[in-house]
Amino acid sequence: MKLLVAGVGKDYLIPVIDSVSFHAEAGEFVCLLGPNGCGKTTLLRIVGGLEPATRGAVLLDDQPVVAGDAHTRRVGVVFQEDRLLPWMTLEQNVALVLRPLGLPAADRRAVARRHLRLAGLAGFEDYHPGRVSGGMRQRAAIARALAIEPDVLLMDEPFGALDAQNRRIMQNEVRRIWQETGRTILFVTHSIEEAVAVGTVLVMLSARPSRVRALIRNDVRAARAALIEDLNTMIMEEVERQQGGASA
Ligand SMILES: Nc1ncnc2c1ncn2[C@@H]1O[C@H](COP(=O)(O)OP(=O)(O)O)[C@@H](O)[C@H]1O
Ligand SMILES: [Mg+2]
Repeated sequence: MKLLVAGVGKDYLIPVIDSVSFHAEAGEFVCLLGPNGCGKTTLLRIVGGLEPATRGAVLLDDQPVVAGDAHTRRVGVVFQEDRLLPWMTLEQNVALVLRPLGLPAADRRAVARRHLRLAGLAGFEDYHPGRVSGGMRQRAAIARALAIEPDVLLMDEPFGALDAQNRRIMQNEVRRIWQETGRTILFVTHSIEEAVAVGTVLVMLSARPSRVRALIRNDVRAARAALIEDLNTMIMEEVERQQGGASA
């Protein structure tokens, strides 16, 4: 689905997001970057209808996202922690989220197995989360998010807890899964290298209260080193700005 974020802002006790606007075509892989505390997670929750915006609107295929009305939209979410239930097998974990969709048990199992296979876990359906690696648990979390056939897949620093090698593997895997499913993905990361490796559009937010500092189409592979350098400079400037603001 195509995604429009139009002047979205959020105030808690302090303004966190000033005003953020960007749009993404259906099937785009959008990476959100920005310094700590600039409201990336908050923005993801607003897009997912898990949190109301203070200002502005989010449209998915021209339909406004209404917070709390999560059933009108199917949103898949993957967090940094896998949030799997340890007493259930991987297959049971994925099948569980299909219950509210009213599928019979045999169909739930079939859908769960299909998505575990998509996520590279064929043969591990009957394992419990404690018996597989962190990377495999994150694969299961991705399978679970995709099993509901989400309109948009939200990923909040999903590989932040993995070691460098597993991270690279999972970056390639998420690219492959994105190509195979054609889902629109909104992916938060604080790693510029990761954003440049996986995203088609990079949205760089400023320090809190955030705005879009830069929106970059990430399709010129040759220029990636320069892009990484530019983004690193921007992040450093924003972190300095934030620290300046905090001490003022
Ligand atoms: N439910 C909440 N109530 C009050 N403040 C919050 C809440 N959620 C987030 N915040 C604050 O909003 C700011 C941005 O948080 P967050 O969206 O998690 O940033 P990021 O993911 O970019 O690090 C932080 O200062 C955080 O403390
Ligand atoms: Mg966050």
